[in-house]
Amino acid sequence: MANFDHLQPSHSTPATEIPTIPYEVNVPPHRLPVEQYGRDRFVALPGLIQPDTASSLLAATDDVPAKRVRVGNNTETWNEQIFTLEHPVYRFFEQDTIVSLVRALTRLKRINYLQTWTSIYGVGEYINPHTDSEGSAQLLICLQAPESSAQGGKLVVSGQELFLTPGDAIAFEATSLRHYTTPLTATKNEPEPRRTVLVGRYFMG
Ligand SMILES: [Fe+2]
Repeated sequence: MANFDHLQPSHSTPATEIPTIPYEVNVPPHRLPVEQYGRDRFVALPGLIQPDTASSLLAATDDVPAKRVRVGNNTETWNEQIFTLEHPVYRFFEQDTIVSLVRALTRLKRINYLQTWTSIYGVGEYINPHTDSEGSAQLLICLQAPESSAQGGKLVVSGQELFLTPGDAIAFEATSLRHYTTPLTATKNEPEPRRTVLVGRYFMG
């Protein structure tokens, strides 16, 4: 009888032992623009996390394969990774500081459900103006950006143009505010710019 024991993994890590990186959040609760969010359903949160924390989060996304997204007439494309329960990136959005922030802005207490993903844009890639179909609020954090806004990769929300750099974030009501990005362009200095944003979509009650 064949023995396949040698094909078994020598060890496996139970979900509860997956290390969680302590992702520090820099926006103190008393400085949160709660009134502004209540009025505009959108706030910019520059430097929500440090650039090196953004790098750590980006590195933590590496183990999840990206799938290609094509919409429109295949003119809009980008890559997407989805993170599920127990993944360190999913847990980032579950941590107290982040949850408190989302609760304070939305004035909603109960989180029923959470979805997390990255959108990764390369040269020529963008997303057209749209509103999302679901979710109470989204927290979007830039993990990777081109060197300058001259290379595109601007995020436009409700007519406001933003060029996010790693660690910058926005919180917004994606179901009611139209939003889109501008295409990335290659330059001699940076022939392959990439823009990666990490999104947490909260379903609240
Ligand atoms: Fe969207």
